[in-house]
Amino acid sequence: MLSIETLRKEIEEGIAGFKFKREPIGLYDPIEYSMSLGGKRLRPVMCLAACSLFTDNYRQAMPAALALEMFHNFTLLHDDVMDNADIRRNQPTVKAKYGVNTAILSGDEMLIEAYKLLALTDSPAFSLVLSTFSQTATEVCEGQQYDMEFETRTDVTLAQYLEMIRLKTAVLLAGAIKIGALIGGGNAHDIEALYNYSIDLGLAFQLQDDLLDTFGDEKTFGKAIGGDIMENKKTYLLISALENADADQKKELLRWIGDTNAQRDAKVKAVRDLYEATGARKATEAKMEALYSKAMETLREMNISAEGKRFFADFGNMLLKRNR
Ligand code: IPE
Ligand code: IPE
Ligand code: MG
Ligand code: MG
Ligand code: MG
Repeated sequence: MLSIETLRKEIEEGIAGFKFKREPIGLYDPIEYSMSLGGKRLRPVMCLAACSLFTDNYRQAMPAALALEMFHNFTLLHDDVMDNADIRRNQPTVKAKYGVNTAILSGDEMLIEAYKLLALTDSPAFSLVLSTFSQTATEVCEGQQYDMEFETRTDVTLAQYLEMIRLKTAVLLAGAIKIGALIGGGNAHDIEALYNYSIDLGLAFQLQDDLLDTFGDEKTFGKAIGGDIMENKKTYLLISALENADADQKKELLRWIGDTNAQRDAKVKAVRDLYEATGARKATEAKMEALYSKAMETLREMNISAEGKRFFADFGNMLLKRNR
């Protein structure tokens, strides 16, 4: 079995082979910029690794893996418009560097590029690969819509939050694993188990992203800390805080949520303190760890090779310990 590092390197080589130096540069430069700024490359690595569980010829999944990374980066261009975010991977977002209109159109083109890459897949399972990719993309849009709609609500439940992040985040990790396994020729039973493993992993991954957005280190995380708080995102942190707060804490939290002119540092610090005081941080960390454990449990019960299990266990551990 291959290592995470080897696969990541192959993905980087694939991305380095993209040719986006063409006219109109206003359209293509931001694509080059976004794709070349790094990122963890988790989805394509999962896709190749899943493929390699069932065939030695894991490179057969390379076009699909690259399509998934292109699609992921497309979602980030639009997400940063929707979330008013100016920093990603320690650099200005496309929206901040080139403007909102460019983020929209270059993002659209990246979605098209993703499909062009996917179309290069040479596999008897191509039709299933295509429908999985499209279904996943639809679900990401659904999740992003809920994420936005929740900003202006204060009655979102933890269950609704978990369904929202299943859609906006987990299904793309799970789709990446499923697509890799389909190309590798995996059987339906194993593919379903892998899918379930990565849904739980993906939920845990988003909980951690939310924790890092509030409690992380800006330089290491690469995104501006407190963005979720400023946008009134209904995270597990915020929902737990509202649920567990006493009357005074709840009043204070709702006042910050309603304060549209709040000064950034003041609001972020006050809400962060409330997350600690109400036990919301602890509750979120506990939920994240429970989801990682559940994913690992599913993995242990799977039918795949011992080395395959080790790979995905390492992968899970790497995610759990991440700080970016
Ligand atoms: C960011 O994904 C969007 C989320 C689903 C939280 P990643 O954390 O995988 O972003 P990069 O590609 O590594 O920058
Ligand atoms: C990520 O949600 C979901 C998608 C981009 C589809 P976030 O909005 O939390 O992602 P970051 O934190 O900006 O990377
Ligand atoms: Mg965002
Ligand atoms: Mg978002
Ligand atoms: Mg986030």
